[in-house]
Amino acid sequence: MAESSDSLQKERKMTSGPNFSASVVRKSAAAANIPPANNSMKMMSFENKQRRPNRIHRRSVSVSSTDSYSSASYSDASYSSDDEDGGLNPREKEQSNSSGQSDFCIRNIKLSDFGRREIEIAEQEMPGIVLLRKRNHNEKPLEGARIVGCTHITAQAAVLIETLSALGAQVRWCACNIYSTQNEVAAALAESGYPIFAWKGESEEDFWWCIEKCITYPAWTPNLILDDGGDATHLMLKKYPSIFNQLKGIVEESVTGVHRLYQLSKAQTLSIPAMNVNDSVTKTKFDNLYCCRESILDSLKRTTDVMFGGKQVLICGYGEVGKGCCQALKGLGAVVYVTEVDPICALQACMDGFRVVRIEESIKIIDILITCTGNKHVVRREHLDRLKNGCIVCNMGHSNTEIDVGSLRTPDLTWEKVRTQVDHIVWPDGKRITLLAEGRLVNLSCSSVPSFVLSITATTQAVALIELFRAPFGRYQNDVYLLPKKMDEYVAALHLPSFDAHLTELTDDQVKYSGVSKTGPFKPHYYRY
Ligand SMILES: NC(=O)c1ccc[n+]([C@@H]2O[C@H](COP(=O)([O-])OP(=O)(O)OC[C@H]3O[C@@H](n4cnc5c(N)ncnc54)[C@H](O)[C@@H]3O)[C@@H](O)[C@H]2O)c1
Repeated sequence: MAESSDSLQKERKMTSGPNFSASVVRKSAAAANIPPANNSMKMMSFENKQRRPNRIHRRSVSVSSTDSYSSASYSDASYSSDDEDGGLNPREKEQSNSSGQSDFCIRNIKLSDFGRREIEIAEQEMPGIVLLRKRNHNEKPLEGARIVGCTHITAQAAVLIETLSALGAQVRWCACNIYSTQNEVAAALAESGYPIFAWKGESEEDFWWCIEKCITYPAWTPNLILDDGGDATHLMLKKYPSIFNQLKGIVEESVTGVHRLYQLSKAQTLSIPAMNVNDSVTKTKFDNLYCCRESILDSLKRTTDVMFGGKQVLICGYGEVGKGCCQALKGLGAVVYVTEVDPICALQACMDGFRVVRIEESIKIIDILITCTGNKHVVRREHLDRLKNGCIVCNMGHSNTEIDVGSLRTPDLTWEKVRTQVDHIVWPDGKRITLLAEGRLVNLSCSSVPSFVLSITATTQAVALIELFRAPFGRYQNDVYLLPKKMDEYVAALHLPSFDAHLTELTDDQVKYSGVSKTGPFKPHYYRY
């Protein structure tokens, strides 16, 4: 609690202080107001399709980060060329791109055309980050930035990487997860000259080797980290403290990484500023709610072909994720029950038309059980024993202990793998339940994550990097900060044109009356949305 109120105080100080890259923010109103519907497609297709990024170095899951919901994307399309190359470890292969550069290490450079198409598809659904790129292309707010990036390497991440480069940054990039790299996307990036070190199915040793390749390189001293899970931060801090101490800052995306940063800050061992983008409004209010609202349906359909109309569904937890799941399932005609421990969320669920029950009250009648609490052992063996035949069980929360899957690994129960990420668990009397992704986050494991939501997160990351890079000396101390509200508003504004949404401008009279500036921030830091 103390930490978060500290951060809020810092945010308050910052929003009343000088503006981040003032010109970048100033453009937000225009971004939100100008675009006629017909122009939005034009804005999305970039003037310079043949980007040759301005970087110095060109060539070549963690195993920890599984909690950055906004970046990983399940994709069967991500094909591995293991068969083609006899499963040779990419570190043993010599590869170069068509310009002869070899500062990268990926599965197979020949996949680059396919990867480029994936990136172009992602761009179509990432209007905010594309608009940020377009509007700041000439100004190059990241000129001089040298970024070590450690994120999931997907088509959407590629759009971010290419944006940072177009804004002037030099980058070296690796994966934050050993399984989530789209090999063809890594190939497309390597073909365009980006030093990418990542492939699907890295060993743990490969994983750390790749990060190291991004930190160290002749004539390369990074000054920013964009991290997702805290591993690049951790490695640099432990092994290369002199490089770490000279960084301008860290932008961290994940729950885990942010937690580590707060621990460092508490122990007063954080020697540089860090930005917690995981808790920015444009993340929690969009990724958690809207992304889950869409991806829960996708996850259930892909894995089980279930029809939702008339099904009885129990959703544990009515926070942002639970609300999204409830809305989606109700919309398709499911009968939705909710469990909650917090009376405020329980009351919200009631007012939204859901029955709030204890798990025991509904366990025998439900067809689908979804956990969204972030808590531990919310569904235990005693509950699973009482489910009816055919019930589908899955988890949308961070912790893979939310459903006590361990309690199902007993000799009396039989596990049958029926599809990828789908297990039937059979009781001695023949009853079977369908468990998805062995209780891990089902949407990360079994569905795609909408590119639009990833655009919001990627824009937040880019804006946070610009802010840390351009901030005048002294604006940020060696601590963890939330993104100033004005920048959250800017990120949102960049996404409005694609809906042809037109913001209303406060009149002078209204400005005087409400005390709110015409250009924002429009809400106090404690506003809950
Ligand atoms: N799957 C995804 O894509 C995705 C996206 C964002 C967040 N998450 C994760 O989902 C989880 C929920 O996120 P959120 O933003 O909704 O959090 P939240 O804090 O807003 O909501 C969680 C809710 O669960 C309730 N709860 C806690 N213990 C409970 C219990 N034993 N029984 C019933 N209810 C209980 C809390 O009162 C709270 O209202 C977190 O672990 C978060 O990290 C997942």
